Order: sequence, then structure tokens, then C-alpha cells
Amino acid sequence: MVTAGTNFDVEPTVGRVRPSVDLAEALQELKHERNAIILAHNYQVPQLQDVADFVGDSLGLSYQAAKTDADVILFCGVHFMAETAKIINPNKRVILPDLEAGCSLSESCPPEKLAEFLKAHADKNYYVIAYINCSAGVKALADVICTSGNADKIVRAAPADRNILFVPDQNLGAWVMERTGRKMDLWQGTCYVHVEFTARSINKIREQYPGAPVVAHPECTYAVRMLADEVCSTEKMVSFCKESPAHEIIVVTEAGLLHRLSKEIPDKTFIPGPTDNCFCGECRFMKMNTLEKAYDALLNMEPEITLPEPVRKHAEIPILRMLELSR
Ligand code: 13P
Ligand code: SF4
Repeated sequence: MVTAGTNFDVEPTVGRVRPSVDLAEALQELKHERNAIILAHNYQVPQLQDVADFVGDSLGLSYQAAKTDADVILFCGVHFMAETAKIINPNKRVILPDLEAGCSLSESCPPEKLAEFLKAHADKNYYVIAYINCSAGVKALADVICTSGNADKIVRAAPADRNILFVPDQNLGAWVMERTGRKMDLWQGTCYVHVEFTARSINKIREQYPGAPVVAHPECTYAVRMLADEVCSTEKMVSFCKESPAHEIIVVTEAGLLHRLSKEIPDKTFIPGPTDNCFCGECRFMKMNTLEKAYDALLNMEPEITLPEPVRKHAEIPILRMLELSR
């Protein structure tokens, strides 16, 4: 629904704003014209985090998307995140600055492959728990969705008499099994960023900062999780760093989180988790979005997320179940 006074009849223009005009300010003006909200993930570039109305993890972003009364959601994150916002907001326009902003985990589990697997293992009568990092097609095949922020709650709530299939992240799945004691069959997907952190690289940085606790994302491998003082979602990492008495903290996740940490906790030092090679711990998909692309996207109202209604409808059920269960 477009509210009165919202004008979408704009000429498609790229780079309409002159370089001398502050783009962040121009984006804010445009946001008001469009009655839009800007949601940004913790891994987005600093310029996008700084213009967003809300910056958070996948769970927080899903709640924000569910409760907004804006007409337009400018989603600064990756495709599956914007798609999730669209699934629960069929009447809003959801804009993603770069449509190519994908996710290696999501790619590891194509819906056709999952459907085939479920058919071949029909005797297992799987209860499918899908990590939110997956496509709408996969969500449509799931019983419930989870994020790294609520995975153990969702797994604990699964029917006790059903076999569980957890897709697509094997590391997050294994971590939840350790925490809940619930056995699950795991899809063999991984995040290409988080598997780059190794026990060797973490031990090495620990030697350099002996007093610094290590906080790691559950998408990291078992060997890295074992070395961490805390394993949690990016939002919980922010709380951990705020509450920790330590002044130096080693943060083992995508490097974008360090901007938010340094901004909200300026008196502490955050050391980015290193890898064994020169890889910088940045997600190339997350970094595809820029302030320029965000401005152009909101100006031109594209790229826009669209979905076939039957897929959207099926995918909405497990997302709403998750939002209900993790309140
Ligand atoms: P969070 O939900 O913990 O922010 O994780 C999202 C993600 O993509 C991690 O790689
Ligand atoms: Fe996907 Fe990994 Fe990038 Fe997160 S960091 S969006 S899981 S590829």
C-alpha cells in the first residue's frame, strides 16, 4: 500500500545527486519522501550502518521487518534477508541495493535438491529446521526457521517424536546439537567466510593478546568454537562485548561487526579474528551494497524483491512460527 503523498513516479536515474551533495543526507530526505525504513545488517559497510534506522542480526532485522508500518523497506543486507522481509510483508516494496548480494550457505542448499532429498528419505518423516540463511524456496519446504540468535530455543521446541533435518549450515547445526543434546541430521553447507578461521589462527592471536576473551560466531568450525569463550549471534556478540570486563576482545566473525562495536563501545579495543592466509574476513556478498547503490535503489525503486505468491505463502508459515516461538 502506498500512502498519500508517496511519489514513486520518478524517472529512473542513476547518480542524480551531485557529488557535492552529501549522499547520506540525500538518502535520508529520499527515505522520508518514500515513507521508507532502512534496515542494515551488522556486516554492512560503515556508511550504510550509519544511515540505517536499525542495525542488527538476522533475528532483530526480522522483527523490525515484521513490525514496520513504512511503505518501503530498503534492506541493506544479503538477498535472503531482504527476501525474508518481503515474505512477511507482501504488500510492501522491498528494495535491495545489489541483487547479486547472495550467500554461500543459501547457495549450498537449492530448493530442488532439498525436495529431492526429502522425497528420497520420506520414511524419516523429517521435521525440517531451516537456518534463515536460505532461499524462499527452501523456507517453503521447512517446518520452522531459526537464526543463530534463537537456534537452541527453536530446536528445543521441535516435536520430540520426529527426526530433525537441519539445513543448510552444518556448523551451526552441530553447535545446536552440542547445546541441546538433540540429535539432528545436518545438511553439509558452510559459510565460506567463517570456515576460514582456524584453530591455528585463533591460537596465534591469543598469544598476542593473552588476556583477551574470544567471541566467535556459531558458523565457525568445531575447532574454533572450542577455543572461544563465547559462541553467539552477532547481536549477542555486541552484548557480550558490552558486559565483558575485558578491555580487549578478539571477535571471530565477519569484519563489518567491528564498526558497530567500536561505535557503541568506544573505550574497548576489538581485534578482528585472523585467518591463516591474507583473507580479510569480509563477506564479499555483504560488501556488494554501498551507499551509492542504496541511494540509487531507493531513487529508482529497484532492484526490488518479488516472489511467486505460492512460494511466499508457504515460506511465511515457518517464519511466523519462528517469530512466535522466539518471543
Ligand atoms: P547473525 O544473524 O548472527 O547476524 O548472522 C548472519 C550471518 O549471515 C552470519 O554469517
Ligand atoms: Fe552468508 Fe557467510 Fe556472508 Fe553470512 S557471512 S551472508 S553466512 S556468506
